[in-house]
This record gives sequence, structure tokens and C-alpha cells, in this order.
Amino acid sequence: MFENTTFSITTFGCQMNKHDSERIAGLLESLGSIAVSSPAEADFSIFMTCCVREKADERLMGQVATMKNDAPRKGSPFGRRFVAIGGCIGQRDGEKLLTQLDNVDVVFGTHNMETLPQLLESAIEKGSRRAEIIDGRAEFHDELPEDREHPWAAWLPITVGCNNFCTFCIVPYVRGREISRPLDEIADQARAYVQQGVKEITLLGQNVNSYGRDLYGSPRFDAVLDAVAASGIERIRFATSHPKDLTDGVIERFATLPNLMPALHLPAQSGSNRILAAMNRRYTIEHYEGLIEKLRVVRPYIALSTDIIVGFPGETEDDFEQTCELVKRVGYNQVFTFIYSRRDGTPAARLPDDTPRSVIQERFDRLVSIVREGALARNRLSLDRTMPVLIEGISKRNASMMAGKSPYNQTVHLPLPAGTSLQQWEGTIVTAHIEEARTWYLRGSMQS
Ligand code: SAH
Ligand code: SF4
Ligand code: F3S
Repeated sequence: MFENTTFSITTFGCQMNKHDSERIAGLLESLGSIAVSSPAEADFSIFMTCCVREKADERLMGQVATMKNDAPRKGSPFGRRFVAIGGCIGQRDGEKLLTQLDNVDVVFGTHNMETLPQLLESAIEKGSRRAEIIDGRAEFHDELPEDREHPWAAWLPITVGCNNFCTFCIVPYVRGREISRPLDEIADQARAYVQQGVKEITLLGQNVNSYGRDLYGSPRFDAVLDAVAASGIERIRFATSHPKDLTDGVIERFATLPNLMPALHLPAQSGSNRILAAMNRRYTIEHYEGLIEKLRVVRPYIALSTDIIVGFPGETEDDFEQTCELVKRVGYNQVFTFIYSRRDGTPAARLPDDTPRSVIQERFDRLVSIVREGALARNRLSLDRTMPVLIEGISKRNASMMAGKSPYNQTVHLPLPAGTSLQQWEGTIVTAHIEEARTWYLRGSMQS
């Protein structure tokens, strides 16, 4: 039924969703369907959705609604297109989406991705419109084949779900309770990736630091790092790290494991202890900065990034100032800044919130300019240094430049050597001398 059909996957949200999309792609390809990049050329247009903030919700609705009048692709075996919605909005809204969007055929959730082909089949054969969502524990989808976006980079989920219930966050409701994948499976998977020529593994979990609590009684993320490092992989990264669970053992690995990249994403969310308590983050700013001190002892140039929410209910000017001070003190390479977005069903959605939108926007803009200054200052530290860069593609800004990543997760632009093609370089690690530092990227030249 799927032979010679085409599918597209549009992915919103976090790396976990991107990984899930690679599994869906692998599944449909194993049935004979062919991946295309644009939903307009697809018989099956699949949307892997995110509901962490309101904007992501709106973007999905807009995109799906505008497809309504699109003609089916030329050569379509069905004479029409099928639209499927998966991911976190699928899980959250289920059936409701079939009423809200009348061109949607299939809705599936985060716990039952493997049912997508059956749901599509019954849409094709019987014209049925169905939502199938199961509530349940999170699970790994490692039984599904995967089609990775880049052959040299792999996501490796080590936990799925989340038990933390930060008061602003919808994720625990749409992804279920946290479970960990056994250590030996992770090690086997890492070795398999190395054999396939993968250069970089990114370990995934909403809170990788609590890895193993369900399996072994206490967190064992440091053991995961050791096992993955022993596979011989060139580069290891991980996301996301919750400050309350970051152990000395993990910090130490930044000194002892040369393939663990010197970059850490450690979401602070706020610089005010009062707001952190209201967010149920369960650490203080003193604890957070203590971690950073330890990290800089073991890896002085470690690149730090963070997430900050501006405008959490009840945030005062003083709370916000404390956030700005934190960002200045730490010196982040990158800060992902978000305006608080009320999510129905979360505890924070019930808190009174009387800060005017314009005040929140003004705070947000102020923070962004502090972030930009800080990022440029950090990038300048790389000037005149030589570093290995993993080439990932062509620069979005300039087609004669390749773009890659430094160990510190900085984007580095390098001229594409004359007479060579990108394919020769993609997925290889080259040595670059850094000659120019901008806010969001570096420019260098390749050293032979
Ligand atoms: N598990 C990760 C975060 C996943 S969500 C962690 O704990 O770090 C990614 C980021 O989105 C969060 O760190 C937070 O900064 C932001 N976020 C989550 N819910 C939000 C909301 N309701 N409004 C605004 N930002 C939010
Ligand atoms: Fe959301 Fe907090 Fe879990 Fe991260 S740790 S996914 S912010 S509840
Ligand atoms: Fe979004 Fe779901 Fe990830 S809500 S951030 S796609 S876990």
C-alpha cells in the first residue's frame, strides 16, 4: 500500500521530537514510501508537533490550515493528500484536532508512533478520520528503524518522559513519567553508531542527570558517559541537564573524558530564588552558580548555555534584575530566552498574573541585548585559536562558506576550498584557525 508513495515530516519542538521524526521516517521507508522535503509533494504530510509554548501551537494550526486547498501532488496514487498530526499536540488534543482542522485524517500520540501506518491505511481504504492516543508510561521506540537526517550525527535517547513537574511546563503531561533505558543497551547502540561512521552522539532526555533512578535506585548518568565514551565515538554531547541533579561525578567527566565536548546546556530559568521556588525547580541560584564554579575548575573554557523564562506569573522588576545579573555573571555562550506562555493544566496557569504584556516585552528585549553582548564576548575568546570543526553543511548566510561546529558548540564558517564540493567535507572534522568573532558565529580558515 505504501510502495511508491511519498511522505514529508515537518518537525516542531525539541530534539526528542526530531529523533521521533527520524523513527517515523525509518518506519515509512521500511514500508516502501519515499521521503520528500516539502508537504506539497507528499501523499502523506506528517506534522510532529510541540505544545511547550503557545507560538508552536499557532504555527501548526496555520500551516495545516493553509494546506487545505493544495492540489494533490502530480502522480499521486490516491488523487488526494493525507494529513497526520503526531507529537505533543497530538498527544494533548487527540480527537479535538479532527474537529478543529477538517483536513486532518490521522492524529497519533507520543506513546504509539508505531500505529501510524495502520491509521493511514484505514484512512486510505475506508476514508476514516481517526485519532488514536494512549495514555501511558513513556517508552523507547528503538524497535522502529530510523532514517537519520545526517549520517554522521545521531540522537540517543537515554531517558524519556519527565517527573519534575516544573510548574510552567506541559512536558510531563504529554510525554509521561520518566523511564531510563538499560545501560548495556545504550552502550550497544553507541558501538553500533560508531561502526556506522557516526561522529557525534547526543544523549537525550528531559533530565539526563536523573538517568537510572528507576532502574538502579540512584542516578547513574556518569556511568552512561563512561560507557558511551568507551565506544570510541569522536564527540559526545547531551541535553538536557537539570541543575538539581547534576552530580560531581558528571562534572568530573568533563575533565576525564576527552570525547565529551566542553559545552553544557544548564537551564537556569530565572535568577531569582523566589521565582525558582514558584517554578518548583528545586535549586537555588547559589547552588546553580556553585555548579558553574566546579565546572570551570575542571574545564576552564567550558561553553555554557541556558534557558530563561521572562514574565513568569508574579515576576517583579527586582526578580528580573536578578536574572539579568545572573546572565552577566555567568557569561553564557548562548541563552535561549522565552516569554512565559500559559499552558492549560499546569499549576502556574492558575497563578494570578498582572504584569502588563508591554512590561514583559520590554524586559525580554533588555535581556536579549545582555545575552548578545555576552555571547560576543565569549566568541571573542576564540579569536586566533585553532580548533577542530565538524562540518555540517553550507552556511545559511553565504553559499560559498561551509558551516560546522567547534567543540564549544559554536558555529564556525569556513570557505569551501576551490575545486571541492560540500559532499567531500560534510561529516568530517577539520582544523580551523579562528579569524573573526561575531555574536552567533565564528569565521575561520582551514589548516591543512
Ligand atoms: N527538560 C528541559 C526543558 C524542556 S522545555 C529542562 O528541564 O531543561 C525547553 C524550555 O522551554 C525550558 O527550559 C523552558 O525555558 C521553556 N519553557 C517550558 N515551558 C514554558 C512555558 N510555559 N513558557 C515559556 N517557556 C517555557
Ligand atoms: Fe519541563 Fe521541568 Fe521536566 Fe524540563 S524538567 S521537561 S522544564 S517539567
Ligand atoms: Fe515540545 Fe514536546 Fe519537546 S512539547 S519541547 S516537542 S517534549
